[in-house]
Amino acid sequence: MIWNRETRYTPYNAWPKSTLPTLEAQVAQSKWRMQHHLQPTSGLLNDPNGFSYFNHQWHLFYQVFPYGPVHGLKAWQHVTSKDLIHWHDEGLAIQPDSKYDSHGAYTGTALPVGDRLFIMYTGNVRDADWNRHSYQIGAWMGPDNQVEKVTPPVIDAAPAGYTTSFRDPYLFERDGQYYALIGAQTTTEVGAVLLYHSADLQQWDFQGELNLPASLRGFMVECPNVVEIDGQPVLIFCPQGLPQATLAYENIYPNVSLVGQSFDLDQVNFTPAGAPTQLDAGFDVYATEAFNAPDGRALAVSWIGLPEIAYPTDAENWAHGLSLVKELTLKDNHLYQNPVAETAQLRATPQPVQAKVNDLTGAFETEFTLAADEQIRLKVMTADADHYLLVDLDAQAGTVTIDRSHTGRPFGEKYGQIRRAQVQPHAELKLRLIIDVSVFECYINNGYTTMTGRFFLDDAPTQLQLAGNVAAVTGTVWNWLK
Ligand code: FRU
Repeated sequence: MIWNRETRYTPYNAWPKSTLPTLEAQVAQSKWRMQHHLQPTSGLLNDPNGFSYFNHQWHLFYQVFPYGPVHGLKAWQHVTSKDLIHWHDEGLAIQPDSKYDSHGAYTGTALPVGDRLFIMYTGNVRDADWNRHSYQIGAWMGPDNQVEKVTPPVIDAAPAGYTTSFRDPYLFERDGQYYALIGAQTTTEVGAVLLYHSADLQQWDFQGELNLPASLRGFMVECPNVVEIDGQPVLIFCPQGLPQATLAYENIYPNVSLVGQSFDLDQVNFTPAGAPTQLDAGFDVYATEAFNAPDGRALAVSWIGLPEIAYPTDAENWAHGLSLVKELTLKDNHLYQNPVAETAQLRATPQPVQAKVNDLTGAFETEFTLAADEQIRLKVMTADADHYLLVDLDAQAGTVTIDRSHTGRPFGEKYGQIRRAQVQPHAELKLRLIIDVSVFECYINNGYTTMTGRFFLDDAPTQLQLAGNVAAVTGTVWNWLK
């Protein structure tokens, strides 16, 4: 397939009926299919959307272009779950089939209101000269999971002073009033986050621009979110083109978190409580969506994939996945991320960590403590000893280094093959490493720092090897139940 403007934006109903089943059959054969992470049945997945709890179950949607591993005409795929672990595919929920979203039903969020779910998303439209128009579209989903778009769009265009790069509404409610944060760009090409207010979900008024520090804006802000944890606001956003001087990051674009003291919605004033940090110190996290769940937890899901980078699965006509669901907590103004407690149900029989653990089944997990000042090297591999994912722990320097240059399938090399996270030196180091065939999620010191990424070996990994002072390590390995 040649991916040009025409093929990328072919309406779904103009594709031959046989296209998707053929692609899906090819994708199902891939040795890199993950066992428990959400992934597209064909084509490209990107941002999580509309993460919510409604009608007695969890709802999650994601951006998808089902016809190929490229950013084409986007729709919302819908999945539901009772336990945040096992997901049921509900099919396409929002299709790009109206004049307000003809070139993509882009990212958005959802809020349960009465017995329905209110959704707001960006309708991406290109005119004959390929000029962009961005509408913010409202939609309602009932308990039957059918989505009905509201016409006309609830927000017709960006306010004066901003470009048409105006997208990714994040809905939230405070004291019975509704708000939306929207990613934006000033006409001088500086990133911005705009706040809208509504009393009734129909009439939306521009409240103002968030007072983000000038150094934190880049040229465009995508996917802004705000959650409240223990009464403190936490802002999560993707400032494209952020200067590396502001924040040391190596990925093409960063996903940033900023813990706040307060967020005054009337003044559109966010008061930070600390420095901005990279949400994830690994290779592939972007477009994280978080929300305050009705059970009191702040939950988040990330896109594991980055824009503008080719991945080995492209050749198999699929790309990317979503992270496990993570719980966000705060301690001393620092954001911690951990897989939700429900994740433990995937653990099969425990076995102790040792120099060599065989018989792993592609998806597994290890959790261990390395004594202070000790070092250990971990290899995640198949039976083929030439290729592996390397994880180096140094409890003297307080570093965790992940190197994917020995996996045999290099990709994204322009952005480096190694990532290093810094934690406290001269202290015990705690690691929880989750491997699911072609993805790793690494949680360090109880979620103080996370490192996430894709890696592609010749086959699903079945071995874990440890080198160094193995006696300084105490912990457990579990295969994950299928
Ligand atoms: C982020 C993003 C969003 C946009 C969506 C389109 O990855 O570019 O800003 O709404 O993807 O799929």
